[in-house]
Amino acid sequence: MVKYIPYDESKIDFHEIGPANLENGQRQYVNLVDQRIIVFNLAGEYYAIDNTCSHDGWSLDEGEIGDHQVVCPRHHARFDVRTGEVLENPPDAQIEAIGTYPVKIEKGIIYIGISR
Ligand code: FES
Repeated sequence: MVKYIPYDESKIDFHEIGPANLENGQRQYVNLVDQRIIVFNLAGEYYAIDNTCSHDGWSLDEGEIGDHQVVCPRHHARFDVRTGEVLENPPDAQIEAIGTYPVKIEKGIIYIGISR
């Protein structure tokens, strides 16, 4: 597991998602504790981000993914899937980062961490 953003494991509950069998570039949609989340496999590493664009709430699940970035299909904001950081704002707006979640794979199962 790679920790791109430090977190305190004692303040997080890891939730079982399912088998870690996503193909490279494949995504899975998850609803966890009222959070809409997308899980990706990118080159063998798993990432989990909010499925809601911080600009206007559009779903990111149809967004183009590549090079550790996801592009919002509505106004083309670009986010880093490792950190949630905004890499490119939509036209005429300064937006905030999206949420990211720690992911771990144990015995072939995906777990996503949500703050308590
Ligand atoms: S809703 Fe995502 S960039 Fe506007």
